Amino acid sequence: MSATIQSGLERWFNDGVPAADCIVEDAADGITIADAHLDPSAFAPADDSSSRLVLPYTPFPRQREFHRSPAKYRLFGGAAGPGKSKALLMEAILQAHEHAGANSLLMRRTFPELEASLLLYFRRDVPRELYRAFNDTKHVVSWWNGSTTRFGYSRSENDIYQYQGAEYLFIGVDELTLFTLKQWQFLTSRNRCPVPGAFANMAAASNPGNIGHAWVKSLWIDKQAAPGMERPGEYDPEDYAFIPARVWDNPIYATDANYLKTLHALPEHLRRAFLDGDWDVFAGQYFSNFDPARHVERAERIGFADWWPRWISMDWGFEHPAAVYWHSQDKTRTVTYREFVRQHMSPRNLAHEIVERSRSERISNVYLSPDAFARRTDESSIAEQIGDVLGANGLPRPVPADNDRVGGWLLMYQMLDAGEWTITENCAELIRTLPSLVRDSARVEDIEKMDGDDAADAARYGLKSRMRSQTGANAPFDQRIAARVTSNDPTIRAIQARKAELDEQRRSGPISFARHHPRPGAPLR
Ligand SMILES: Nc1ncnc2c1ncn2[C@@H]1O[C@H](COP(=O)(O)OP(=O)(O)OP(=O)(O)O)[C@@H](O)[C@H]1O
Ligand SMILES: [Mg+2]
Repeated sequence: MSATIQSGLERWFNDGVPAADCIVEDAADGITIADAHLDPSAFAPADDSSSRLVLPYTPFPRQREFHRSPAKYRLFGGAAGPGKSKALLMEAILQAHEHAGANSLLMRRTFPELEASLLLYFRRDVPRELYRAFNDTKHVVSWWNGSTTRFGYSRSENDIYQYQGAEYLFIGVDELTLFTLKQWQFLTSRNRCPVPGAFANMAAASNPGNIGHAWVKSLWIDKQAAPGMERPGEYDPEDYAFIPARVWDNPIYATDANYLKTLHALPEHLRRAFLDGDWDVFAGQYFSNFDPARHVERAERIGFADWWPRWISMDWGFEHPAAVYWHSQDKTRTVTYREFVRQHMSPRNLAHEIVERSRSERISNVYLSPDAFARRTDESSIAEQIGDVLGANGLPRPVPADNDRVGGWLLMYQMLDAGEWTITENCAELIRTLPSLVRDSARVEDIEKMDGDDAADAARYGLKSRMRSQTGANAPFDQRIAARVTSNDPTIRAIQARKAELDEQRRSGPISFARHHPRPGAPLR
């Protein structure tokens, strides 16, 4: 659905129809709000402006553009300092005054961040006589017209559900890339308003970077459904508007030599993100050495030879997309040459898709995410279901992939650095995902888990598992067992598994005195 809104300032900038309950006027000294519901005793000017209050805010041109945008979901900024947070706060206030009795919500990820930005600006810049009350515990402003604005935060993923049950005409999210896609999607479900004629809408402000970088970039910059979206087919680019703004759009900072100097002095990738608003780089990026010009090639140019080994790696997912990669190798480099990423596909159907795409290729191994081997019910595990189809079609049954995350990311990084890993152009999801991965702030050698990292996980399984099988490093117990269970016949599989277990026990068990000198009644091993 595409929709338009006469948001915030547009009504009065276009000097169109005044809103039902409130007249808002643009003036040199700020925004004048004349509200039918204003309590005259709350302020006592002497002249006929007694029912008019001034919100001391004159938007800068970019902020004005943001307020006037008719999109349902707006993203403002993309760089440091243009006045993003302030514009969000003002948008909430304006919409609260456009429709009496409407609720609005302003969000930051943590309370200290909320205190230092939106709440600070509210306390500092919004005159006391403009609102009926402010509940300091709940952080809710009650306006004279019965509307409210709530300041909220969601430190943990699930804290967002405390907003369940409420409905908001306007929701503003500051520093959106600190939020997850799930949190944003939940908030969109709270974005509705029973006030007749009101158009529910949301806006966000953000710099590039952080855990939300990939999905925010998808929705607003690349204009496509984000990985991990439940119903990607319903994504309508018309609903999303990105209003870029940089520090030079804020006259206060544009002439602040000190602040500009600080931004210029940032390390290259941070400077590009915060000063230029470049969404292709950002803080904490793990694969800062990934360069499509160097690492991506057209498949036709590779010149595959029949004798090159080929293998498949796969990250199983149902709610999250399943991601499958095909790899090959010559003497000097590994080539990831095919991709299949699909959501909501059963294990058997997924396996059929793999078979379909692997025809005529000699695949030596299929590495599958280890969690797919868990047996949760009496039914076959995901791995078994996939394995049954692959096996019946002449492909190897899957074995658990090497899930050493830190070692795997490092290997990928080193292979990119040495020019030992090439990705073909058709692996679009992988090419898009790699530059968006950021370091885990609590465990810097690892990558932060996030929605949409399935492609990278699957590729990692492919490179790391292959490397281990070549170097002969010792695989974990489960993997060694699974690697030896190769038959398609269930009885033979059971025998193979039992035999492998016994061999393992024999191999690893301590040299037992009992074995050499069995005591009476001791079980034979
Ligand atoms: N229209 C305006 N009129 C006057 N001052 C403004 C206006 N807009 C923003 N400012 C001031 O400019 C400064 C920066 O604004 P703000 O914090 O909103 O920017 P930001 O883009 O959110 O910055 P950051 O990238 O650091 O989050 C603040 O002191 C704010 O009060
Ligand atoms: Mg800000």
